[in-house]
Amino acid sequence: MMKLCAGNTRSLLVAVSLAVGMGMLTAIDTARAEYGDIVINNYSDDAGMRPAVFPHWFHRIRFRCKVCHADLGFRFKAGGNDITMLKIIDGEFCGACHNGDIAWSVENCDLCHSGKPGTKTQVHESTLQKLIAPPKK
Ligand code: HEC
Ligand code: HEC
Ligand code: HEC
Repeated sequence: MMKLCAGNTRSLLVAVSLAVGMGMLTAIDTARAEYGDIVINNYSDDAGMRPAVFPHWFHRIRFRCKVCHADLGFRFKAGGNDITMLKIIDGEFCGACHNGDIAWSVENCDLCHSGKPGTKTQVHESTLQKLIAPPKK
């Protein structure tokens, strides 16, 4: 390490930026299970998918309530919207934005289906609860 610091600034820089990169990954990972996240699991478990997790606050700071709850017709109830992938691919619900245009598109299954299998539909009220399962290998 001494040798690296003294003699090889470039490897040091690489090491530092790697460390920073990894720190950021951790931060993004832990940010996934936040107060107010909504777990939607009407169909996922039965279909062998991990439950969908909707980060409400992440979206609320980016869009007006009206965009989703009036224009897109989301009812104010966790699990209350009978969302299916056909509808999403058709541009309804999450698919109004997750279409590769306003936001990344539906191929990114794991970004939405990130809940622990078996987690019931709910509004996540506690920052201590762990809702997110590690990605399947
Ligand atoms: C933008 C978010 C999002 C993405 C991306 C996404 N889904 Fe979904 N998906 C949902 C939501 C929300 C539901 C409703 C969850 C529930 O009620 O269980 C759902 C439901 C499902 C269901 C059960 C209902 C049905 O339509 O059969 C399956 C199976 C499914 N998704 C598979 C997938 C697969 C496979 C992919 C990747 C090709 C994918 N999803 C990508 C949000 C997403
Ligand atoms: C990007 C879309 C989007 C925006 C913007 C949005 N919501 Fe939601 N909201 C949802 C979805 C999706 C659900 C869960 C519906 C489901 O599970 O089927 C939800 C659920 C809710 C619920 C019921 C669950 C709970 O937390 O009690 C309330 C209340 C709510 N939203 C209020 C608001 C308010 C107030 C705003 C604006 C400050 C807002 N929402 C902005 C998409 C959105
Ligand atoms: C009104 C538009 C809109 C709707 C509707 C919407 N999203 Fe998003 N969503 C976005 C945008 C924009 C981003 C940020 C995309 C980016 O960073 O490239 C995002 C990001 C996300 C993320 C990643 C959050 C993070 O921490 O990076 C998840 C997970 C997600 N959406 C799930 C959903 C699910 C599930 C639904 C439906 C229940 C949904 N979204 C509906 C616009 C929307």
